[in-house]
Amino acid sequence: MSHGLEVRALTLDDIKDLHALDQDSFAEPWSRSLWKLELSRLHRIYLGAFKGIQLVGFIGGLLAHTDFHITTVATKKPHRCSGVGSLLLLQMLKEVDDLFEDIETITLEVRASNKPAQGLYRKFGFAPVGLRRGYYQADNEDAIVMTLENLQQGTLADRLSEIELKLPTAVYGDAKQ
Ligand SMILES: CC(C)(COP(=O)(O)OP(=O)(O)OC[C@H]1O[C@@H](n2cnc3c(N)ncnc32)[C@H](O)[C@@H]1OP(=O)(O)O)[C@@H](O)C(=O)NCCC(=O)NCCS
Repeated sequence: MSHGLEVRALTLDDIKDLHALDQDSFAEPWSRSLWKLELSRLHRIYLGAFKGIQLVGFIGGLLAHTDFHITTVATKKPHRCSGVGSLLLLQMLKEVDDLFEDIETITLEVRASNKPAQGLYRKFGFAPVGLRRGYYQADNEDAIVMTLENLQQGTLADRLSEIELKLPTAVYGDAKQ
């Protein structure tokens, strides 16, 4: 039996599950209307990881000139630490590499205390480049800014191929083909 996940673009039909998973993952989840707006905006990529029909993770980001900014990523609690976040980030970076030319950096902010997320990003080569003090207004926590820099043509694709080889096949399953 395959334990594989399918990763595909999120659509307006996914909003109910997306909103529920967002609420369960973040202290300040987006409203349904913001999700609706975001899914229909240009220069965005939103992907979901599905186990059968169940949404088990999502990732989103937007293009800003030569930077692609990862805005959100979450894995459903029972499915964490099994490679879902890695698969989503891998797919996202592949799409960025395929869709957008002249990307120089990929950037994101992460809570200073969020070690699991920082571990995920480091695995893909993201490095800390700065601190935004009090970035998270609800509790005034600092954000660490992390980037993948100097993405000359070909560099990102090579890096992703190496990471892809290390992903657990139980997660990848059919999605690898
Ligand atoms: C961050 C998050 C998306 C990671 O998703 P995941 O599906 O568990 O990630 P993976 O299983 O692919 O793990 C990827 C890497 O992250 C790191 N990691 C994941 N969970 C970790 C934990 N509990 N402690 C330390 N490192 C951890 C590891 O480096 C891991 O790589 P490895 O398995 O090769 O060691 C998940 O913890 C989550 O949804 N958190 C709540 C939402 C959130 O904080 N999002 C990030 C906002 S910036």
